[in-house]
Amino acid sequence: MSDISTVLQEHRVFAPPPDFAKKAHIGSLEQYRALCAEAAADGDAFWAARAKEELHWQTPFGQVLDWKPPHARWFLGGTTNLAFNCLDRHLPKRAAQEAIRFEGEPGEVRVLTYQQLFEQVCRLANALKALGVKAGDRVGIYLPMVPEAAIAMLACARIGAVHSVVFGGFSAEALRDRLADAGATVLLTADGGYRKGAVVPLLANARAAKAAGIPTLQHTVVFQRLPQAPALVAGEHDWAALCARASADCPPTWVDSEHPLFILYTSGSTGKPKGVLHTTGGYSVWASLTTRWVFDLHEGDRYFCTADVGWVTGHSYVVYGPLLNGTTTVIYEGAPTTPGPDRLWQLIAAHQVNVFYTAPTAIRAFMRLGDEHPRKHDLSSLRLLGSVGEPINPEAWMWYRDVIGQGRCPVVDTWWQTETGGILISPLPGATPTKPGSATLPLPGIFPEVLDQKGNRVEVGAGKLFVTRPWPSMLRTVWGDDERFQKTYFAERPGLYFTGDGARRDADGYFWVIGRVDDVVNVAGHRLGTAEIESALVSHGKVAEAAVVGRPDALKGTALVCFVTVKASVEPSEALAAELKAHVAKEIGAFARPDDLRFAAALPKTRSGKIMRRLLRDVAAGQDSKQDTTTLEDLSVLAALRQDDE
Ligand code: PRX
Repeated sequence: MSDISTVLQEHRVFAPPPDFAKKAHIGSLEQYRALCAEAAADGDAFWAARAKEELHWQTPFGQVLDWKPPHARWFLGGTTNLAFNCLDRHLPKRAAQEAIRFEGEPGEVRVLTYQQLFEQVCRLANALKALGVKAGDRVGIYLPMVPEAAIAMLACARIGAVHSVVFGGFSAEALRDRLADAGATVLLTADGGYRKGAVVPLLANARAAKAAGIPTLQHTVVFQRLPQAPALVAGEHDWAALCARASADCPPTWVDSEHPLFILYTSGSTGKPKGVLHTTGGYSVWASLTTRWVFDLHEGDRYFCTADVGWVTGHSYVVYGPLLNGTTTVIYEGAPTTPGPDRLWQLIAAHQVNVFYTAPTAIRAFMRLGDEHPRKHDLSSLRLLGSVGEPINPEAWMWYRDVIGQGRCPVVDTWWQTETGGILISPLPGATPTKPGSATLPLPGIFPEVLDQKGNRVEVGAGKLFVTRPWPSMLRTVWGDDERFQKTYFAERPGLYFTGDGARRDADGYFWVIGRVDDVVNVAGHRLGTAEIESALVSHGKVAEAAVVGRPDALKGTALVCFVTVKASVEPSEALAAELKAHVAKEIGAFARPDDLRFAAALPKTRSGKIMRRLLRDVAAGQDSKQDTTTLEDLSVLAALRQDDE
């Protein structure tokens, strides 16, 4: 494939440290291979055994899998409850153990034991019931990274309500679109949250979202995070007051294995975000199992994942996976460099973190800031390091291993997606030899393949990444749009799940995920659809047309470059460029603010009118932006002469 070529040649291999392997849940390549062979030989038996080991089933399941591509149903007839599995079943042993260890950006520490978390979840669950929430109803969650975010998710799961968490960095407009699409009846939010020393105005955004029209929304529950209690208006309720009135006794609602658990919106290649739907049984089994396998959790561990609950990593590996395993999950509210560039290292030392999981963008940023910041802190509690969200370049991987892990900690580069629910390709730290920059091998039960344009299997080389067999935590559909689900994920090769990623397989069968092959970009670990940014730009009155592409960026992985044509009477200017960037930040969120915005007289198009993105990507990657405008016009002419579409 011409557009998926890699020049990376990385030959370093790191074997798992022997003393790590000795204690690991999966401690050798043989053990890993045996599990893979078991799954390959009899998938139903393999998954049935895993499902029984990981979860309490109130009613046992019968049939393991019903697979009518592209629709899968897992653990049929079984009933369970995710909150029960995260909380109640641990209480006999762990009531007094820390479940959540929280530090706010301003520095206050709050600890919730399993017993305390259980009680708070039950109270909120009863409060939701009192507001009329029933099993299957959708509840929006728009909170800062405080324990209440986890409490909110668990309370929904407890009563069978379907949560849809919206990242606190999203704007009022983005919040409205998501809540309206999900048909949320209740929104759980806060008056604000702390980030980079400032207050994120969550309640103001929630009010603006509601005012813009969310027909189903009846109640807003407001958690007070800021010193001054907010003045609430009709339809708004104080979180603490509601919970104080509610009973701490709330029996779990046993739901069918395929009962919807959550909807999480993610970007695709059209302007409208997709509501990825996950269901209860299969998702829980895989979240639980992968957390233990990949992070090799042991009794007494403190585990810290820096992701926000607004993203899937926060769902599976801040809240559900660690709690299913009875671990202590460390939650940090704020920015990684507030108040100083050593904030995360200070947190690791202060909370004696054993397992740390973050994104390559953060690793690269810290690498630039200098080794003196981590060196100031005692990082000797660390045993294992993880990376997620985008390809990690070998240089950053080596720095992570040497400077943060002090050469002692294995690094697990975990590949997965919102749609996959949990990690699919990753080293097992006690078993898999790692290569810097490679997510290595699929987990047992997962069958990925690299296929070429014709759909042939690529043994060694690059192509598109597919998953060829269903797995329990795969998305079930796109909320309200099953046709889009089928088209996006199963049209490329019928019956095979298409990831949207390009990947290379090396001679050892290792996977090197290169990046997206569709119009989705990964900016600083945040997944964005270029079409979303384009529709935000054209919603501005002065813009006629816009095309957005990614440009490789040493720090953010990808930077956003926008090409804009303005309406006839409008004069392009620096000021207008700044205004348009701010407009995108307002429409979507500050994290989507374009890095570069260039005006063009016309956008290069094929005869059939398709914007020539590949050419724009080349132009964006070029240095001289003044030159680019002319280049663009030349390209338009060239394009018009071309017979075929790009
Ligand atoms: O392109 C891949 C990249 O992130 C995409 C999924 O983004 P999202 O659904 O937001 O989930 C992020 C957290 C799981 C993938 O299609 N990606 C994720 N992890 C890796 C990665 N690319 C390379 N290596 C990874 N480890």
